Amino acid sequence: MGEAKKVRVGLIGCGARLTGVIERTLENGDQVEVVALADVSEAAIKQAKERLHCPKAKVFENHLDLSRDPSVDWVCVGSWNVFHKEHILGALEANKHVFSEKPLTTNIDDCVTLKKAIEKHSRLFSMGFVLRYAPFYRRIKELIAEGVLGKLISFEFNETIGPDHGGYIMSDWRRKREWAGTHLLEKCCHDFDLANWITGSAPMRVASFGGLDFFKPENAHQVDRIGPHANGLPAYHGWQKMGIYTRAHKLNPFLADKDIIDNQVVILEYANGVRATFHTNLNTAINERRMYLCGTEGTLRGDVLTGEIEYRRISHEKPVMRETTVGGGHGGADGTMSTALRNSMVTGAAPLVGLDDGIRSAVACFGVDAALDRGTVVDLGGMWNQVGITL
Ligand SMILES: NC(=O)c1ccc[n+]([C@@H]2O[C@H](COP(=O)([O-])OP(=O)(O)OC[C@H]3O[C@@H](n4cnc5c(N)ncnc54)[C@H](O)[C@@H]3O)[C@@H](O)[C@H]2O)c1
Repeated sequence: MGEAKKVRVGLIGCGARLTGVIERTLENGDQVEVVALADVSEAAIKQAKERLHCPKAKVFENHLDLSRDPSVDWVCVGSWNVFHKEHILGALEANKHVFSEKPLTTNIDDCVTLKKAIEKHSRLFSMGFVLRYAPFYRRIKELIAEGVLGKLISFEFNETIGPDHGGYIMSDWRRKREWAGTHLLEKCCHDFDLANWITGSAPMRVASFGGLDFFKPENAHQVDRIGPHANGLPAYHGWQKMGIYTRAHKLNPFLADKDIIDNQVVILEYANGVRATFHTNLNTAINERRMYLCGTEGTLRGDVLTGEIEYRRISHEKPVMRETTVGGGHGGADGTMSTALRNSMVTGAAPLVGLDDGIRSAVACFGVDAALDRGTVVDLGGMWNQVGITL
């Protein structure tokens, strides 16, 4: 009997995230192999070859040549956000299955283009919304489906991050909208995807305030006030040596030029009438990724960083129920997402999170940031029409 044919994967944008995702996808079996790499950085290619054990992978200068190469079955995209659209489109037009990191694109026209392309080529498409695979969020979704809350009326959600992570963002490519889109899109598109999923809806009216108030030259002294980490790295630079070459950012996060916010608040009304508030801040000593959900018959709160969920039915006697799921930044979901990706690659199973989810999350973020930029309440009806989504 001949050997089963392996699924052959090509990577466009071989940085920290995608090499990590694919490294886990290659674990526990040999049904998937990396055969092609494209990246503008030679260091990234070198590292990907070592980390993904593919010294003989073909290296492409042009992403279209990688996608069109007959030896590639799946194209995986992990480049800067502004390039996602052209990298995904090239792969779909070459009739390849695609995994793409979030966010889907940085503007609404690109969402429309990709929607048309997926409809035309009908390939498998998997989005890297890793938190969808986290036991914490899956349990919340399950509890809601079981009726613990009754009908969801309103909720709060947030994502606040610590100084080293914030400092990393403010000295990386993510600090510029021309490369990453807004901070809300680049980082909080996860949270807006989760909120869409949990409400079973999407935002229709939004307003937002935000700005850059901390990562400014006048606060550069905070590095000295806090002093270095135990390993000698300065405060706000703790992510410099994560073992990944791309983490070696050299810019000072307080002095580097940037045009993203470091704090933002949002109010939202979903198409199904549910209302919410969202808050993000990039310089917090107590980090949270929390949800607090209020329904007609119950209340639930939890934080994925601790993995803890509390809920209580509205009645005289019912106690507060407490459960602990997996905690941590991605709620233990990195391995699960990669296993699911391998499953889609090997068996053709439909991915859990697809292009439509990518569009819904991106458009929600575009709407919120339009509200922030314009200083008005924005009605997203026209945007949903433009991307062909009926709510
Ligand atoms: N799902 C998650 O939790 C998660 C976490 C981190 C990053 N991400 C996403 O993954 C993507 C990459 O982020 P990262 O942290 O790995 O960044 P990174 O800087 O480590 O990697 C990006 C790579 O893309 C390459 N690149 C940039 N432009 C390119 C182009 N035009 N053609 C080919 N290669 C190009 C860079 O050289 C670099 O190697 C981003 O879209 C980011 O939002 C997702």
